[in-house]
Amino acid sequence: MGEELQRWILMVTARAPTNIAVIKYWGKRDEKLILPINDSISFTLDPDHLSATTTVAVSPSFTSDRMWLNGKEVSLGGERYQNCLREIRSRGNDVVDEKNGIVIRKEDWQRLHLHIASYNNFPTAAGLASSAAGFACLVYSLAKLMDVKEKYQGELTAIARRGSGSACRSLYGGVVKWQMGKETDGSDSIAVQLATEKHWEELVILVAVVSSRQKETSSTTGMSQSVETSELLRHRSQEVVPKRVLQMEEAIANRDFGSFAKITCADSNQFHAVCLDTSPPIFYMNDTSHRIINCVERWNRSEGTPQVAYTFDAGPNAVMYAPNRKVAGLLLQRLLFYFPPDSSKTFSSYVIGDTSILEEIG
Ligand code: ADP
Ligand code: DP6
Ligand code: CO
Repeated sequence: MGEELQRWILMVTARAPTNIAVIKYWGKRDEKLILPINDSISFTLDPDHLSATTTVAVSPSFTSDRMWLNGKEVSLGGERYQNCLREIRSRGNDVVDEKNGIVIRKEDWQRLHLHIASYNNFPTAAGLASSAAGFACLVYSLAKLMDVKEKYQGELTAIARRGSGSACRSLYGGVVKWQMGKETDGSDSIAVQLATEKHWEELVILVAVVSSRQKETSSTTGMSQSVETSELLRHRSQEVVPKRVLQMEEAIANRDFGSFAKITCADSNQFHAVCLDTSPPIFYMNDTSHRIINCVERWNRSEGTPQVAYTFDAGPNAVMYAPNRKVAGLLLQRLLFYFPPDSSKTFSSYVIGDTSILEEIG
């Protein structure tokens, strides 16, 4: 290629929302392929509040693959990034941009270098599933850039899974299930959409950011320690979750908020019990998280039926589900009463109306 032709650059930008599990994934049976020990179910959130925006660019003038996360250069040397890049590159197709006279042959993807820039509009590594939004967005934007076509439904989710397990669920909107699969190569460990974002439109998701600090124990390290040391996790994955997944699917299909709330809270509490049952124990929730649980439990009990559900990922931040905007408003009132803005235990909170899907934005 002559000097003149080296000047082009081709890019794609996409945005992917995070997802919050109501039946949690915690524990791998294969750490290299990221294969889980149980199915999990999540809701994909609204991208305006919790999403990753990633631009991927290719140019013959780039001399190495590079990545910037929230404005700072990070290493792409890790196995997870390498696995995602390799899997997508090997599926790349011919791309022709007639307007700018760019022709990329499918084999060129193996030698052309990439620059990747990603921003999260919410705290990174703080227990709000930034790895889910981040890797889903990376895989989706790379697939767009290289014109990758899925050979089977869910193929891209299996690639995002290699970046971070929870990322496979962020490629679809609405309610998503990650099937653990049976195959040893992970080909059937994919995400499937259980319901679109239209199915349960009245549902409101509220995120209370208790702390945006990076957690001390990453999800990856934490779950690996739990698999090694927690007997409760073995019981949970073999006896509890398989039944719970069926009950949860039914509750969601029927938009049965009472059952949905009971299972969601129980699953979050069992997940954090597993963390305590791990040696050494892992504490993801803090004082404020416990107070939020108390506040919701007392309200639910005083009404006789669940008003709202809470769930906590690997961090102190609360995600709450309300059946409609009216109840979400009452919840906010309560939270503001118990956690007044001038106290030391405050948080920024967002009302998130919809669940959503990821999108290409340029
Ligand atoms: P979280 O609870 O936020 O998911 P994790 O410990 O699971 O925390 O994952 C955090 C890691 O995910 C980060 O250190 C980074 O490697 C990766 N990550 C986060 N955001 C992005 C992004 N936008 N693009 C690519 N990778 C990301
Ligand atoms: C508590 O997907 O972040 O949020 O696969 O090692 O990257 P890795 O872990 P990650 O774990 C998420 C755990 C969780 C529950 C869930 O999202 O299902
Ligand atoms: Co994560």
